[in-house]
Amino acid sequence: MEKENFLTQRAQGPDAAVPAVARLNGEYYDKTGSKRRFSVQTFGCQMNAHDSESLAGALLAMGFEPAADEKDADLVIYNTCCVRENAENRLFGNLGILKHEKERRRLNGKPGLTVALCGCMMQRDAAVEKIRRSYNHVDIIFGTFNLHRFPELLLAHMQGGGQIIDIWRESGGAPGEPEGRADIKSRQFAHKAAVNIMYGCDNFCSYCVVPYVRGRERSRTVRAVLDEVGLLAADGVKEIMLLGQNVNSYRSGENGENADFPRLLRLVDAACENTSIRRIRFMTSHPKDLSPDLISAMRDCARVCKHIHLPLQSGSTDILRLMNRRYTKESYLELINAIRAQIPDIAVTTDIIVGFPGETEDDFNETLDVARECRFSGAYTFLYSRRSGTPAAQMPDQVPPDIARQRFERLLKTLNPILLEINQGHIGETVELLVDEKSSQNGMLTGRAGWGGIVHFEGPESLIGQFVNVKITGCRTFYLFGMMI
Ligand code: 5AD
Ligand code: SF4
Repeated sequence: MEKENFLTQRAQGPDAAVPAVARLNGEYYDKTGSKRRFSVQTFGCQMNAHDSESLAGALLAMGFEPAADEKDADLVIYNTCCVRENAENRLFGNLGILKHEKERRRLNGKPGLTVALCGCMMQRDAAVEKIRRSYNHVDIIFGTFNLHRFPELLLAHMQGGGQIIDIWRESGGAPGEPEGRADIKSRQFAHKAAVNIMYGCDNFCSYCVVPYVRGRERSRTVRAVLDEVGLLAADGVKEIMLLGQNVNSYRSGENGENADFPRLLRLVDAACENTSIRRIRFMTSHPKDLSPDLISAMRDCARVCKHIHLPLQSGSTDILRLMNRRYTKESYLELINAIRAQIPDIAVTTDIIVGFPGETEDDFNETLDVARECRFSGAYTFLYSRRSGTPAAQMPDQVPPDIARQRFERLLKTLNPILLEINQGHIGETVELLVDEKSSQNGMLTGRAGWGGIVHFEGPESLIGQFVNVKITGCRTFYLFGMMI
């Protein structure tokens, strides 16, 4: 079955390279009777996933069609992540496979394969150097700051340009649109969409490469955000996710709108009134910047989901200091209490790193204590990954891998039973879901509750993209079961 695509297109026209590539693809179609196909694979976070939607949008505008499988693609793009080492290793594994595929096609006289790499890892000199040296079957390399240049780079390659590397050190976008990107997006879902409100990060947590590969914090203007929300509403989108590495430091001082994040949230909520958009989410919040104003805004805005993702990283104040997180165990717990006092039924999810340099048994036990006390509705748990160029990579007392792994298992043994209990508490409730898709595992429909819980239920595929009410009938640790009512 053809994959459907959901385009959001800006009023302004695409840049000159787009029609030029489209012409070349048109000639290919006239000659062969088939369109060139693309595959974009995303590694890493929502920010990357959202960038991939921009790339896919540009590719559709250039006359490509999506490949059902990477094996059938004429152009493969990997949008890379470098936050942890295993994401990098996976990329090199995949590149090895593509090298053989490229060679196989050459030997069989088949049309060639173009390989493009972009994303965070391409902002790391050592990674790009390794690719230049050992992976010369990669045709195009570009970074996080010049995503919008992709059509030009592709055109140059198609016109016979050899290996093209175009990495910028910082954003070259216009004010208000810091990335100056081509704003045609091919969304993964018709009914939900992400909206960037800011780019980059200034926090320099001592383990994290993001500030180095995504650059300094820069906010979009209120106008730019509201315009994009308006386009999505015109498209019938039902749920939006406002994206930033640390949305709490959003600050737009332009066009007479001196808005911080709580104000932006209220403005977005008001703009969604009488539109199809009934749910607003946001991520990620840094605990050090989460203000009482934001809690009030979440409480007051009807469309803002009662869910907050609030990375803890560690429950030990000593480790938090080494991590440069700028909050303590106590202030984190106070914050959760303050949020729950205002919004009692809010779901809190988190990120936790295990095995940070210097983490002792006592430090780790404090993380377990906080996990028990906070009763997280979900947690992304990570083994600390040593990233060159970050301060933590130089710290003494790196934790031996076997100890880190044991702690990781213990953390899951603490988190998972709580998750199961929370899910069991929902049994018998009536819940409104936004239906996402048909599960490939059990053929049931899956939807999300406002708080973020994933619910499986039997129903016709025509419900995908709709709101439905279900009664929760059962659960597992990571999802629930429901019945339509
Ligand atoms: N090692 C392990 N986890 C990391 N994260 C970021 N950098 C590292 C690292 N070097 C995790 C943090 C962050 C999430 C997106 O990734 O928990 O919140
Ligand atoms: Fe990385 Fe910290 Fe910025 Fe999050 S807030 S992106 S963990 S530096």
